[in-house]
Amino acid sequence: MNRELAKSFNTEKDIYQEAEERLVFWEQQAASLDWFKKWDTVLEWNPPYAKWFNGGKINASYNCLDRHLKGTRKDKVALIFEGEPGDSITYTYSELHNEVCKFANVLKDLGVKKGEVVTIYMPMIPEAIIAMLACARIGAPHSVVFGGFSSMALADRIRDAGSKILITADGAHRRGKIIPLKNNADLAVQDTGLVEKTVVVKRTGTEVAMIEGRDYWYHDLMKKVPTDCPAEEMDAEDILFILYTSGTTGKPKGVVHTTGGYLTGVSTTHKYIFDLQEEDIYWCTADIGWITGHSYLVYGPLANGATVLVYEGTPDYPEKDRYWEIVEKYKVTIFYTAPTAIRMFMKWGTTYLEQRDLSSLRLLGTVGEPINPEAWQWYFKHVGKERCPIVDTWWQTETGMIMVTPLPGISELKPGSCTLPFPGTKVEILNRAGDPVQEGEVGYVAITEPWPAMLRNVYGDDKRYKDTYWSQWDGKYYYAGDSAKKDKDGHFWIIGRVDDVINVSGHRIGTAEIESALVEHPAVAEAACIGKTHQLKGQAITAFVTLREGILKSEELIIELKNHIAAKIGAIAKPDELYLTDELPKTRSGKIIRRLLKDIAEGRAIGDTTTLADSSALEALQGLAKN
Ligand code: WT7
Repeated sequence: MNRELAKSFNTEKDIYQEAEERLVFWEQQAASLDWFKKWDTVLEWNPPYAKWFNGGKINASYNCLDRHLKGTRKDKVALIFEGEPGDSITYTYSELHNEVCKFANVLKDLGVKKGEVVTIYMPMIPEAIIAMLACARIGAPHSVVFGGFSSMALADRIRDAGSKILITADGAHRRGKIIPLKNNADLAVQDTGLVEKTVVVKRTGTEVAMIEGRDYWYHDLMKKVPTDCPAEEMDAEDILFILYTSGTTGKPKGVVHTTGGYLTGVSTTHKYIFDLQEEDIYWCTADIGWITGHSYLVYGPLANGATVLVYEGTPDYPEKDRYWEIVEKYKVTIFYTAPTAIRMFMKWGTTYLEQRDLSSLRLLGTVGEPINPEAWQWYFKHVGKERCPIVDTWWQTETGMIMVTPLPGISELKPGSCTLPFPGTKVEILNRAGDPVQEGEVGYVAITEPWPAMLRNVYGDDKRYKDTYWSQWDGKYYYAGDSAKKDKDGHFWIIGRVDDVINVSGHRIGTAEIESALVEHPAVAEAACIGKTHQLKGQAITAFVTLREGILKSEELIIELKNHIAAKIGAIAKPDELYLTDELPKTRSGKIIRRLLKDIAEGRAIGDTTTLADSSALEALQGLAKN
């Protein structure tokens, strides 16, 4: 296990100790990438603003492609694509390079300039990755919007990014049905009035309306361009991408990641945490619409020259053994997924696994939310057959790279704990005052030193960057928004979010976002949402709604409101439960007390009610939730 590590670091003590000289460690890691020009400084830290490898010139697409063409990786498979309907295609590094260069030329022909944000709204198909790398190649930051988001959510993100170009597909396959991506895109384009050109990949063959002079077919444009496109020499601190994530206000934040530090962070962590070997078949099940897709499906593994499997569909289509069929078919060796998926597999039972050959697997990973020890054990036993270490990786959209994790072959594995900060990072659990908590005591996750893949800002909102992440401890430490504790070995046990963010199946949804969608409905006066513990999803959304004068409560209205949220944001934000109530529990100053709503939804004893203005609201609600 972990031969790569064993070569450079013999024992656990060595790698963690070696990385104690953090900047030396990161400088060594950065040196394993290809730079057009070496950096002047490793880190310039003017809290809360970091510059990593400043003065360096680098290109992410070049590092993911061109540099592999010099040696034996030229004809190595870079991407294996498995489509939901069962079609498949592979791209070698040299083939992928060709496609990316061509698409980069397409973008240039469409007038995309360095620094201009390109929005990508696509299914999980190779063209999505080609589009990302083509943007990186010409220095146009990409903003990937999850294909499951609604047209309104897409419009918000296009508007915030000021994006003039949109890349999409005619449709997306989803459990045998087709999601009309281009239709959604059209609505968003109309709504914003910003987008001048769209490029449409033909995936499902769905009939779509193409507007002359605005909409172009990908395959038409790709026929007309040369395969030669030199990679732009980007500053290490130029933006590589922005990725929107939910926060505590109704408006999602565009998390900004830059080039040199990000690539150093994701390639290093990917190599060591997944113990990457040349012959591995690496599969990360995350969608490119999330940070895991960016860091550990695209940039980390491709920078490392890995063979990456990309699967378009869901685990249960056409049968509940689809994932295991894929593992068997492609002899997957490394498998990285989310606890919510594991809990679903548990529910489905072991028959689906037993009928497939999983002997190629050698390493398993999880991300997105705390994994309950029971699910960990099940994953270890039934998927890994007690042979494969599991890496439970804690990180965030903002951290860009994995921050707390075991190292396979080195760390002691503990079901439910993500163990220790990655070498070269400083993660702590602090109390409100900024002091480390005692063993077993609950505190807040803090990152106390800058790290290379850290977010650099919130796009166009410097104040929000400072307020959200750096105000907790006077600009000194990064505030992650999670609570956690440490055990006697100093190992981390993440508890969950402490802000108004719900983690549904490993995806973050801000309560404020759902609430503002709700109050936009003409029947709604006020709304409050909370996350309720859910067996499969980790948390499920429960909404409490008061209606405007004269509007009658009805089952139909409940359904309508749930659908309204799905239309506004996307199906993932649709509440499982929605209660219509006459009043919401509030403080005397009128603030909704979500904590009490949570107690009600969970059916547990109601906590401290001393700040409550009127207790009758509570009694009525308790009655509702019981029914
Ligand atoms: C939040 C970040 C990082 C990619 C996926 C989600 C939770 C993530 C773990 C883990 C416990 C985890 C945290 C974090 N989280 N990984 N291994 N154990 N909790 O990215 O949408 O930015 O969400 O996911 O609560 O803050 P994200």
